Amino acid sequence: MSEIEIRNLTKKFEVKEHTVVALDNISLSIEKGDIFGIIGMSGAGKSTLVRSINYLEEPTEGRVLIDGVDMGTLSHRELREKRSDIGMIFQSFNLLEQKSVIDNVCFPLEIAGIRRRDARIRARELLKTVNLEDKEKAYPSQLSGGQKQRVAIARALASDPKILLCDEATSALDPQTTESILSLLKDINEKMNITIVIITHQMSVVTQVCNKVAIIDNGRLVEEGPVEKIFESPESDAARELILEKNVRYTPVEQLHASRRIRIVFNENSSYEPVISNVILKYQAPVNILKADTRNVGGRARGEMILGLPDGREIQEGIIEYLSGIGLTVTEVDYDV
Ligand SMILES: Nc1ncnc2c1ncn2[C@@H]1O[C@H](COP(=O)(O)OP(=O)(O)O)[C@@H](O)[C@H]1O
Ligand SMILES: [Mg+2]
Repeated sequence: MSEIEIRNLTKKFEVKEHTVVALDNISLSIEKGDIFGIIGMSGAGKSTLVRSINYLEEPTEGRVLIDGVDMGTLSHRELREKRSDIGMIFQSFNLLEQKSVIDNVCFPLEIAGIRRRDARIRARELLKTVNLEDKEKAYPSQLSGGQKQRVAIARALASDPKILLCDEATSALDPQTTESILSLLKDINEKMNITIVIITHQMSVVTQVCNKVAIIDNGRLVEEGPVEKIFESPESDAARELILEKNVRYTPVEQLHASRRIRIVFNENSSYEPVISNVILKYQAPVNILKADTRNVGGRARGEMILGLPDGREIQEGIIEYLSGIGLTVTEVDYDV
């Protein structure tokens, strides 16, 4: 049994009057210890596929098994637990801007109930792993893109995951920084025995670090195998195009569709930052703060925030439930902000 088994996975999105088939009957096996590349043009279905691995996207048809466990059979609680075995990093880093580097790394540990002192010890080890031990007191705005991604990697490793999913993690970085992040990922794969899935639109990323690759075109798996083999003798048109890096459009910094927006209001003395941090960590998905404002309402300062929710009905409902559960009023927003 492979560590990650994707079996006949189909994902459809209902959009207005039509159906988008984002993934069409995909089957893939990813072995323990692989650095597995998933490559395709923009819109091919890569993010949907990687989000299906940790069940942030629920398949329309088919199954995902992690270590032999069918993700579709788990309760919400079990699913959340299973997700702590799966770290994730993104193109847009998703750091908490108001927290220092070390506090960003400590955050998931503290959420998991680890004592602050112990969390800091662990976070320091992780910062060493990613070569940032001298930046623990810095804030994200003081870091370069490569350094930010290193912090995100340290944070993703904090929960001791067995699998690390990287969605266009180097797409916003220059070639030299990309190379250093990729070599860090390779180190982590070898030294910590973590299986890595790398989503990219760049063949150069795949050839640098991956041992295996799957090519996705228009929601379909068109070719799969060892990197050298596909590099030497690509069979599909999609593989040939990607190898020639012809027509490869640069994917813009991950723009959330923000298909669903909500508004929450805070009291003057309640802090919103831990709330947003919790949401990001709990759901391992980017939440866009579209607007944040403080207003004087009847003599009292009230904070208002409009959030763009990540895609996926299940996460959206989960986030709304969580925010309502901690006593915030959530209002759907259907106008542009
Ligand atoms: N939540 C969603 N609702 C509707 N369509 C979506 C949603 N998420 C992705 N899609 C569509 O599915 C297809 C694949 O998207 P995606 O997985 O983001 O591709 P990639 O990551 O390869 O660029 C695209 O046509 C995209 O517009
Ligand atoms: Mg994508």
